[in-house]
Amino acid sequence: MNQMEGTRGRAPVETAKKLPFFAPDLFETDRETLVELVRQTGLVPDQRFILGEQTARFEALLRDSLGAADVVACGSGTSALTLILRAMGIGAGDEVVVPAFGCAPLAAAPANLGAIPVFADIDPSTLVVDPAAVAAAITPRTRAIMPAHMFSVMADMPRLREIATSHSLRLIEDSAVAQGAVLNGRPAGVWGDAGVFSFVQVKSFGGPGEGGVVVTGDAALGAEARLLRNHGQDGVHRFVHHRIGYNSRFDEVLAAFQIHRYGSFAARLQRRAAIARYYTTRFHPLADRGILAPPEGRNGRCYYVYSLLLPRREELRQHLAERGIGAHAYYPLPLPCQPAFARFATPGHRWPSAERASARSLAIPIYPNLTDGDVERIADAVCEFADR
Ligand SMILES: Cc1ncc(COP(=O)(O)O)c(C=O)c1O
Repeated sequence: MNQMEGTRGRAPVETAKKLPFFAPDLFETDRETLVELVRQTGLVPDQRFILGEQTARFEALLRDSLGAADVVACGSGTSALTLILRAMGIGAGDEVVVPAFGCAPLAAAPANLGAIPVFADIDPSTLVVDPAAVAAAITPRTRAIMPAHMFSVMADMPRLREIATSHSLRLIEDSAVAQGAVLNGRPAGVWGDAGVFSFVQVKSFGGPGEGGVVVTGDAALGAEARLLRNHGQDGVHRFVHHRIGYNSRFDEVLAAFQIHRYGSFAARLQRRAAIARYYTTRFHPLADRGILAPPEGRNGRCYYVYSLLLPRREELRQHLAERGIGAHAYYPLPLPCQPAFARFATPGHRWPSAERASARSLAIPIYPNLTDGDVERIADAVCEFADR
């Protein structure tokens, strides 16, 4: 990126190459390893393809690196949220305060357990849930607060912890998109009573398939999630079901591949951060033309997504598409305005910042294997749009 910083305008412009929003070649450098791990897994003598030795090693790697009491690998980030809610005993009629702007599992996970997602508006600049709105949404039926880190900004976990503690509520940290971020020296994932990561392809530590983990400092909660992920079995007595659980197990090939990729994870995060820094330098002057880059702050960020806020979102998307650059609008509707969740929306209540973010946010490519030339081309295209 140094090279990019020093050579703006002089680097060759790669006009012909398509730059899709989702990288088609995320695992290219590890392709051979992936094939070899499939082969090795196919040959292991005990023929365990799920929840075997590799999964245990992967769980231990994450647990030790985070300093958590337990890490429980499971089927997806969504499933990890479900396991946590179930392990906390949250169910019918309980309220869980979630952000009004975010991905569907935030509302679907409580709703699928018969609980009620209660939507709190977001901060208009950081796009993470506004702690004041969370506090205002608490009722005698509230059992948990479930903030999510958004795009590249961690939620205000210190403040949310205070609110949870002062109301005797559980704090669930949806860090599906923020693995690798650090706030005040403490990693994403360990701020709540439990947190989650997702390994779906596009995430910061995505892999070639579905997967997630529960991260917790509460060993009893971890043990409960462990039971629930495999139909209530304890891993010792087969076909003895202590709980009505789920099939949310973890794949051995993915575990082995993630262990392999862990060594290069920090470098990929750094590359994302360098791209983000460059974008922000280029886009900072566009603020007076209504195009806002993500705000600074909340220290060690994980640039999962780099999202701009602007009034002419569709025009920018079209402008980029004409130049072969993909862009993505996360999320075109606030959660309470989604047909699936509208019944949980308090009648007459509005979420103005979530509505504004849904109408204005546009994410541009930020995956680590973009070249400096790619990144310059994307930034040039955005700046050219702003100058029109
Ligand atoms: C904030 C957030 N929470 C939860 C999830 C669910 O993760 P998964 O897709 O692994 O189920 C996602 C991503 O999809 C997410 O972005």
